[in-house]
Amino acid sequence: MKDILTKNHPMSPNGQDSISKNSSNNLSLEEITETRVSRRTLIKGGLAVVAGSFLGMNLAACSSRNKTLSPSAANALLDFNPVSKNLNDIVTVPDGYSVQVLYRLGDPINSFTSEYSNDGSDTDFNYRAGDHHDGMAYFGMNKEGTSKDLKNSSRGLLCMNHENMTQIFMHTEDQRAVYDKSARPSSEIDKEVSAHGVSVIEIQKRNTEFSINKNSVFNKRITAQTQININGPVKNHKLVKTKYSTTGDKTRGTLNNCANGLTPWGTYLTCEENWAGYFKRPESSILTDIKAQATQNRYMGSNASDGSYGWANSTTRDDLYDRWDISPKGTNETEDYRNVANTFGWVVEIDPFNPTSIPRKRTAFGRMGHEGAMPGIVKNGEPLVYYMGDDSKGEYIYKYVSTLNWDESDLNGGLDVGNKYLDDGKLYVAKFNDDGSGEWLELSMNNPDVTNYTSYNFDDLGDILVNTRHAADAVNATSMDRPEWTGVHPNTGDIYITLTNNTNRGKTSGASSKLDASNPRYYTDDKNGKTSKGNVNGHLIRMQEVANNSSATAFNWDIYLFGAQADANGNINISKLTDDNDFSSPDGLFFSQASKGLMWLQTDDGYYTDVTNCMMLAALPGEYNDGKTTKITNKSVPSNSNADEDITTYVGTEASNTNLKRFLVGPKECEITGITETPDGKAIFVNIQHPGEKTKDLSDTNSYGSHWPDAGDSRPRSATIVITKNDGGIVGS
Ligand code: FEO
Ligand code: CA
Ligand code: CA
Repeated sequence: MKDILTKNHPMSPNGQDSISKNSSNNLSLEEITETRVSRRTLIKGGLAVVAGSFLGMNLAACSSRNKTLSPSAANALLDFNPVSKNLNDIVTVPDGYSVQVLYRLGDPINSFTSEYSNDGSDTDFNYRAGDHHDGMAYFGMNKEGTSKDLKNSSRGLLCMNHENMTQIFMHTEDQRAVYDKSARPSSEIDKEVSAHGVSVIEIQKRNTEFSINKNSVFNKRITAQTQININGPVKNHKLVKTKYSTTGDKTRGTLNNCANGLTPWGTYLTCEENWAGYFKRPESSILTDIKAQATQNRYMGSNASDGSYGWANSTTRDDLYDRWDISPKGTNETEDYRNVANTFGWVVEIDPFNPTSIPRKRTAFGRMGHEGAMPGIVKNGEPLVYYMGDDSKGEYIYKYVSTLNWDESDLNGGLDVGNKYLDDGKLYVAKFNDDGSGEWLELSMNNPDVTNYTSYNFDDLGDILVNTRHAADAVNATSMDRPEWTGVHPNTGDIYITLTNNTNRGKTSGASSKLDASNPRYYTDDKNGKTSKGNVNGHLIRMQEVANNSSATAFNWDIYLFGAQADANGNINISKLTDDNDFSSPDGLFFSQASKGLMWLQTDDGYYTDVTNCMMLAALPGEYNDGKTTKITNKSVPSNSNADEDITTYVGTEASNTNLKRFLVGPKECEITGITETPDGKAIFVNIQHPGEKTKDLSDTNSYGSHWPDAGDSRPRSATIVITKNDGGIVGS
């Protein structure tokens, strides 16, 4: 999702990712003396190398560290001519590659739903592709299409998130012009609600092309209306009891499904990001419960709102619409929806191979603006570990560690296996020290920093998990430049996290204002006369767990890569990007399992879009600590009384045409987000989200920001594309 405040994002009034709700006084890093432990003395080695994989997951085998890709392996990948930056209304890929459009907004998922007319009249989104395709995963199935066979590259289930919608293209008339948010027709709300959520579709390869099997029993939509069960420590908690579920064990819908995650047992994790904006909420003064108000302030802000799209304000009164209003109306929480927002902001597990199963919200992963949840290297007999970003300015990076050790005999267990590993574990938040070390701080009643916190009085673990951000404030976690996707390098175990940008960095106040070694840049960026300040182009941080033990409570870190435009000065373009690989606002990040060491990097940008549409790059990252200590001079930093401020940090190997190349540029006004691959690596699936999102006049087709993918005068549509190499080879080679 884009940044409403700084990117003029008219279609997504719920652009909560840009609005800092972190008013804690945590300094991102304390003033620490220049003396630092040489990171080269810190522990290295002992990591299990990955020998096998499936499902896009890292599975461990033997036990010696494979430090870097060999030059020959590196040369075998990235052997394509980089795509030039451009503003064309097409998907551009390198010579020798082909693009197929597979699954567009509104495409029917069964044989009895009509083709999408794409004129705003279509209904039945319970049986059509939702909008704003985002994170996704491919799950191989057997030749007959009856069950799981994760190694099959020619038939499989594609699970995909539909994060949001471009509202102007959903209806026959522009809702913003015709209707007030305070009075929405229920038929329009119903369409919008069901255009959100998740798709499960079966796809098959014939010759070189994939198609959707519309007769598959596995095809389904899970929407913002579907029943979802609440699992884990928050199940039955007072804070999630509602009129719909007076015992607090279920809710309706999954919402703002952004990035994704995977489990070793072949289920899909979908992550709820910008849900907070959707709820109608009262003026802060009418809430009498101090803790409820603190929760609302920390996640939604204190201002009153009708919610992003006015879903609570149907002209037809019904519980289906009332449920979007968190105002206390009854005598207690079981008579209204004051707690309903507490049932969103979770990681949700879906079993694509069990179409009648009810998805489960995995509350042990905490509640936040969940971007994604990707696992560390999976080792038999060790805990399962997940890395997660909370995407909002100044928010934090988290890790979940299961209590039980992974047992390979659970490989086919479905959601009940999820209960074992995902409902019981420890949640940690990251603190990055200036000396290149870091700590994972436990968020539980066992941590005195949590229980002694004076700004929020936690009752129990469930309270901590519903109010994860407050707990992270309590332990002095490090406020980051909007943490987005995470990924774990299959060869090294290093953890990579995109920090997309942060225009609060360097400001005079606010949680993420102070520059620190892990968020070290403040500068000025101009775009068509508009000036933006802070960390405008974002960076990627890299972590290595101490002793390469993914359940460790300490880590070391460096900055893998900085976004910048190629012609920026050396205090901005620190990674020495060139025209072949410069980028802004990194977001999607995915390590191929078919081509170990190959990382895909996607952008959701609004700052370099005067020069180029959003893009995807192919990278061959080295490893933690492969670069050098670097001093960055930030000019005229407001929080430093407009003086220059030097920050010393640790920067990975500079970019070059052998380790970073632009592979794809998308159509106009889109974001590139979501990627998966077939197990043989010969096809990748990429989502093009919200082309033409800035369109303001529905009646003037010439004014549309994009006509992709159908061209002509058509309304633009988010869509999944398939990319293959014409010679049948590995994508990215
Ligand atoms: Fe949905 Fe933070 O991107
Ligand atoms: Ca984003
Ligand atoms: Ca994203």
